[in-house]
Amino acid sequence: MGGFSIFVTRALPEEGLEPLRTARDVARLDVSPLDRPLGRDELLRELASRDGAIVLLMDRIDDELLGHLPRLRAIGCFSVGTDNVDLEAARRRGVSVANAPDVLTDATADMAFALLLACARRVVEGDSIVRTGKFEGWSPLYHLGLDVSGKTLGVLGAGRIGQALLRRARGFGMRLLYTSREAKPEIDCVGAERVSKETLLRESDFVSVHLALAKETRHAIDEAALSLMKPTAVLVNTARGPIVDERALVRALRERRIFGAGLDVFEDEPALAPGLAELPNVVLAPHVGSATRGTRAGMARLAATGLLALLRGETPPNWVPGSARPVH
Ligand code: DGY
Repeated sequence: MGGFSIFVTRALPEEGLEPLRTARDVARLDVSPLDRPLGRDELLRELASRDGAIVLLMDRIDDELLGHLPRLRAIGCFSVGTDNVDLEAARRRGVSVANAPDVLTDATADMAFALLLACARRVVEGDSIVRTGKFEGWSPLYHLGLDVSGKTLGVLGAGRIGQALLRRARGFGMRLLYTSREAKPEIDCVGAERVSKETLLRESDFVSVHLALAKETRHAIDEAALSLMKPTAVLVNTARGPIVDERALVRALRERRIFGAGLDVFEDEPALAPGLAELPNVVLAPHVGSATRGTRAGMARLAATGLLALLRGETPPNWVPGSARPVH
């Protein structure tokens, strides 16, 4: 028997790839030597004769691409989000998909809380004031920010990361609200209340986005949603850029209709909406929610073990429903 041929579209933490390197049924494993995302033609060329691939969130795996890859049977996503893969096309074409959930939950919730605090206390603005020699000494009315303790946090989409953020916020003595299609009894213990999106936007001092990107969630935070928020509210997004209408957000921040925003993801990543980078009341991070050494190694291992299981016809816990069921 020939064994599986696998391609990884960009270098990943090496320890995460170990399950593939040591598997007897992997005949060939190649990792892209290029330190950049692959273009469409490069993806096509590299994946053409592969049984499996590990892909990144910027690799667009759509129906047309899959149509050119008749040998491909399984994909491991180096991300929890699978919005870059057309799951329906994958199901139709017999391609199974695994992702990398759980391992990045804490790191991403930490990042969301870091952005929340950075916005509330104007940490980045302050850093720049000190660095540029503009700090003239302590003063009672100088550089005032927002209180966090006792304020209301609204989590839009209480999946694993949203729940982890709610648990963190409980330690800060915050009132907690969330939206979710179903009630989440598992977070009853943190005292969070499930409310409508409108109530959450109206009542929260901090709104953190934790929705998956889909047709229905694109621009979930648009002009109308922003207009419901308090003028003292902060928006945090560590999920996916297109969930927020970035141009509408720039207008709201510029006109001080909300206090600030902390963004780790962007609508047209890595480009920014015009004017965003010039605003003082926004903290910008380069999509690093899961960027810790341990987390990225865990994600690579999960994508690798999930991919291997799918290729062997097994159904790993991180198989993505909606893609093809693995066939033994
Ligand atoms: C994910 O896993 O979806 C993250 O955005 C990657 O950091």
